[in-house]
Amino acid sequence: MIPARIEPCRDATGYRRVITFGTFDVLHVGHLHLLKRARQLGATLIVGVSSDALSFCKKGRRPIYDQQDRMRIVASLRCVDGVFIEEALERKRDYIREHRADLMVMGDDWLDRFNDCADLCDVRYLKRTPSISTTEIIEIIRHG
Ligand code: CTP
Repeated sequence: MIPARIEPCRDATGYRRVITFGTFDVLHVGHLHLLKRARQLGATLIVGVSSDALSFCKKGRRPIYDQQDRMRIVASLRCVDGVFIEEALERKRDYIREHRADLMVMGDDWLDRFNDCADLCDVRYLKRTPSISTTEIIEIIRHG
């Protein structure tokens, strides 16, 4: 049976299973910093890579790399232990349970958006790396 709340393990080793979510299109150093810091908080980092459809809903444009390629790229990082496709923002609670996460990490562009998950696991928002985003990179490539 899966417990109602995965009790966080706050000893010197940090959390057991950290989960985070995002599109991670055209991977950049801001993504890498976020993933590395998330991984440092626990023993295992699981990443929910937003599906192409979900990414379109969030950002109003199709990702440059499709979901399979984005998953492959994220999965190949040393700081990432597992990946899956995130189909809907509203399913965060299911994903936390399925992956038995005791900490959810999000960038602070999502500040307070997922506090309702705090009854399932701890929730932390990390500062975004300034001055870089996928949107900006696409703009620079398009228009110089
Ligand atoms: N992130 C970050 N620092 C950045 C950019 C992203 O910490 N400079 C984090 C986000 O806060 C999120 C994760 O990386 O937790 C995935 O973000 P994503 O939306 O895929 O990246 P963006 O570069 O913000 O994408 P876009 O410009 O398309 O919105």
